[in-house]
Amino acid sequence: MKEIDIADLKRITELVKTKYNYDFTNYAMSSFKRRILRILELHNLSVDELIKRLYEPSFLDDFLNEITVNVTEMFRDPPFWRVLRDDIIPAIMLNHQKIRIWHAGCSSGEEVFSMAIMLREMGILDNVSLIATDLDSNILENAKAGVYNLKNMELNEKNYIRYQGTSSLSKYYKESNGKAVMDKTLVENVSYRKHDLVKGEVFNKFDLVLCRNVMIYFNQTLQNEVLKKFHESLFKYGYLAIGSKESLIWCDIASKFIVVNNEEKIYKKIKD
Ligand SMILES: C[S@@+](CC[C@H](N)C(=O)[O-])C[C@H]1O[C@@H](n2cnc3c(N)ncnc32)[C@H](O)[C@@H]1O
Repeated sequence: MKEIDIADLKRITELVKTKYNYDFTNYAMSSFKRRILRILELHNLSVDELIKRLYEPSFLDDFLNEITVNVTEMFRDPPFWRVLRDDIIPAIMLNHQKIRIWHAGCSSGEEVFSMAIMLREMGILDNVSLIATDLDSNILENAKAGVYNLKNMELNEKNYIRYQGTSSLSKYYKESNGKAVMDKTLVENVSYRKHDLVKGEVFNKFDLVLCRNVMIYFNQTLQNEVLKKFHESLFKYGYLAIGSKESLIWCDIASKFIVVNNEEKIYKKIKD
């Protein structure tokens, strides 16, 4: 079993920061350490060998892939999607003809397809513009391709049934060579962009920002900074949805939001 100390973790973060401008300094230490240890095991490297490999730009993609956790599902946490459909989207529609939604940390795009399917079933997909961003450009390519393992579709289908969609998930994809190829017309209005929440700029205003199961990998300092960016990125009375194990209660901008749904971790911006 490999081991690594804090000084070596710092050497790695410093190198990746100065050479590639990715800053993992404020990622949650325990999970960051676990991911580094996994890379050492997978590639059978010592810390010094890993540092050497990191000087090869071609190794960076493998490194990013391992550091970032990309696990995701369609209609993940089905009750959350029911609240979006039944409460949040109708509330936004009351005041806006056009809705703008940002998926921050969209991973391989399952969350974006879930949103698009939900909006199509609500008959309002054409009224919504979606922006999906992630730090990891490889995973963004997967998101754009919209091709998933059929095995994963079993869980996605189960989630969709629990969500109580109006159709069957299989209506939205075709099977080809053992893969599920998603219906691309669902994501015609989606713009996929590489964006780093750590150093990326605030780039627009939105009615709804989803950043689910991303900040769980950040320490409190970084969560605070990122939450400020989300506050800035929302129109007044816009909504922020975070992951079920995350919270906004303790952060600096907490007083500028109210809790709309505590179970599903949905907040509403009430102050600029
Ligand atoms: C566990 S996935 C969450 C996917 C989806 N939101 C969900 O809840 O199923 C976390 C994603 O956050 C992305 N991520 C990690 N650090 C990031 C950063 N600094 N900026 C943008 N995305 C980041 C990872 O690349 C990964 O795709």
